[in-house]
Amino acid sequence: MKRALTPGTFDPITSGHLDVITRAAQLVDEVVVSVAASEKKNPLFTLDERVALVKEATAHLPNVRVEPFNDLLVNFARRMDAEVVIKGLRAITDFEYEFQMTALNYQLDQELETVFIMSPPQYMYLSSSIVREIASMHGSLDGLVPPCVVRALKEKFESVA
Ligand code: COA
Repeated sequence: MKRALTPGTFDPITSGHLDVITRAAQLVDEVVVSVAASEKKNPLFTLDERVALVKEATAHLPNVRVEPFNDLLVNFARRMDAEVVIKGLRAITDFEYEFQMTALNYQLDQELETVFIMSPPQYMYLSSSIVREIASMHGSLDGLVPPCVVRALKEKFESVA
């Protein structure tokens, strides 16, 4: 069985992430969406909330499961028995950072392969921080995030207010 990880902070999951996960699920037998604790990023949503939102957004994909992690990605991949990491590549600005992470992960584990999927044009400039900013100013998130995330962001910013 070929198992891939699609790692990220998912604060929150966007339509761009969902596009990568959906396409990854067509390439391998099982995708483990790996939700990083990323405490240093001081996320808006707790780890449990982020995992729950990713689960809801991917519930229609039978070969996708969701797991939290707070570890080196290479160690988590070994624990999950995954042989490939699949990530989205948006604009050229992602390249340098992704290149660095891929090189380091390769240094740590030569058996873990990293593969990139190009984002389609409509998601090229989409990011979780843009989504959080639009939500904080009560703008429309139509098409940018799954419906469960629209609801969660609304609740989050109503409770903050
Ligand atoms: N569509 C939309 N947005 C995307 C996207 C896509 N396809 N791919 C990435 N993004 C955005 C995210 O929304 C996020 O936006 P923001 O910063 O504006 O909020 C941004 O890109 C960064 O994404 P994030 O999910 O935080 O991922 P990352 O590329 O920084 O990496 C991990 C996160 C978890 C994969 C990485 O930190 C990791 O591997 N951590 C484990 C510890 C470890 O092994 N460290 C050594 C690595 S060499």
